[in-house]
Amino acid sequence: MTPPESPTSTEASAGGFATRTPQELRVENVALRFGGIRALDDVSFTVASGSLHALIGPNGAGKSSCFNVISGLYRANAGRVLLGGTDLTGLAPHKLAGLGVGRSFQNAALSPGSTVLDNVMLGRHALTRGGFLEVGLRLPWTVRAERRHSARAREICDFLGLGPVADVPVGALPYGAVKRVDLARALAVEPVLLLLDEPAAGMNASETAELAGTISGIRAELGISILLVEHDMGLVMGIADRVTVLDFGRRIADGTPAEVQSDPDVIKAYLGTEAA
Ligand SMILES: Nc1ncnc2c1ncn2[C@@H]1O[C@H](COP(=O)(O)OP(=O)(O)O)[C@@H](O)[C@H]1O
Ligand SMILES: [Mg+2]
Repeated sequence: MTPPESPTSTEASAGGFATRTPQELRVENVALRFGGIRALDDVSFTVASGSLHALIGPNGAGKSSCFNVISGLYRANAGRVLLGGTDLTGLAPHKLAGLGVGRSFQNAALSPGSTVLDNVMLGRHALTRGGFLEVGLRLPWTVRAERRHSARAREICDFLGLGPVADVPVGALPYGAVKRVDLARALAVEPVLLLLDEPAAGMNASETAELAGTISGIRAELGISILLVEHDMGLVMGIADRVTVLDFGRRIADGTPAEVQSDPDVIKAYLGTEAA
């Protein structure tokens, strides 16, 4: 066994944010069927490098399906997903973390008995070079790496306002804070692209407003590309650079928040479900 020859780009910059170059995400002509249901029908859009892009639509529009295709959980029946020059289509979720794709989990799959910091550290395992055996043996370089990772995890907690509760078990936190831990864990892989599926689900109005501020802060501070999947138009309109709208699996609009908000098809799609 030999120690790592040189630090990875991520480790080298463990003292600061914005560690890797942001990448453009291209979703090209993606189709996904569940039996007879066309969950996604020839969907294309581009998340420009370093931008905050929202994917919105009424319930059942295909947002989560699209999220799951991009994050490798579902395999598209047609089309491609590209991150920078890399084809992500069909790659397993754990491979994506290594390529710099961070994601949230809708039903925050956190370990409630473990501290905030330990949960965030779990997110860093995609970056850890030493295998479990090396870590178990506590070889000097793995101890050093572990210390660096833990320092970085603390920075991420501080950045998301979780500093004061870093050593508190996740199970003891209020809901809004738990969602922040999920976000911290997604950031722990030092993503170039962050995928968020309805991060405000279940939040009250003030928690939602706070979260919107946090998400725009992430974009401003880290300069990474963010795809925000959201049902609630209000949340995204104030913070997104660009918005893609799905309805019944099809893209019905794509533009700036102002353009999309005044688009008759979008208004109809949202009114249709509100009335139902
Ligand atoms: N695992 C699944 N099996 C069968 N149908 C599914 C599955 N996931 C989603 N669907 C269907 O695909 C369509 C899009 O759903 P979804 O992507 O969850 O929409 P959204 O996230 O916009 O609410 C819906 O008609 C839904 O019922
Ligand atoms: Mg959904």
